[in-house]
Amino acid sequence: MIKSTAQYIKQKLNIDSPKIAIILGSGLGGFADVLENITTISYKDIEGFPQSSVSGHKGELIRGFVGDKEVLCLNGRFHLYEGHNPKVIADVVHILKELGVEKMIITNAAGSLKTELKPSSIMLIKDHINFSCKNPLIGSNDDMYGPRFPALNNAYPQYLRDKCKEIAKKQGVGLEEGVYMMVLGPNFETPAEIKAFSLLGADAVGMSTVPEVIAAVHCSIDVLGLSVITNYGAGLVDNPPSHQETITEANKASQKLVELVKEYIKEL
Ligand code: HPA
Repeated sequence: MIKSTAQYIKQKLNIDSPKIAIILGSGLGGFADVLENITTISYKDIEGFPQSSVSGHKGELIRGFVGDKEVLCLNGRFHLYEGHNPKVIADVVHILKELGVEKMIITNAAGSLKTELKPSSIMLIKDHINFSCKNPLIGSNDDMYGPRFPALNNAYPQYLRDKCKEIAKKQGVGLEEGVYMMVLGPNFETPAEIKAFSLLGADAVGMSTVPEVIAAVHCSIDVLGLSVITNYGAGLVDNPPSHQETITEANKASQKLVELVKEYIKEL
């Protein structure tokens, strides 16, 4: 199933040999516009592919180029709060693996857990805490992709983070490293949860990314993770977070992120 879907996508999108994939988070779809020579397929036209039901997520797979680098772009992701089985996220990552992907850039919108990390800034994910307690690798393990018990010591490899910091510095973009906490959602947190997550060592909180990262690390795809901070976590400020605020703030920071990722891909 995975192999035949990969083959179908390869033909439909006229794919050659993309080594890089990118997953675009809420409000960050603008990156798709910088891709050149694109071919596109809607998720609904890919048999067995899950659908993305959240506003701000388009639901299409794009093959395009940044300079001479062929890139696969998932414009719209799958969240566990939509009711997806976590395994479908592993299936999507395995399809990318079958298509030859070696490195994956994962972006998301996240809430800040500390006052120094301001809305519209970008956080480079150095590690995560899987507070969703769900896992895309549950079920029988396919040893062809990776081991039953993968280690996550180095889920966000230093060499990819160093390169990203170097480019951010050149562009004058502030880039703080931090720990991403994944919750299931779809509700935003209570103030007590935000305080607890901060005490547990997290810097930002969101409802995505971790399943993709676990599946990617399992099948030896190297990951770079970037969070656009869209709001302060509940209780850090008076006004409650909202999805509209998430989209608006992500759009505001989007240009900065797009430029960063574009240069990054050129140098990968
Ligand atoms: N909490 C969880 N997920 C989020 C947030 C938040 O405050 N902001 C954007 N995604």
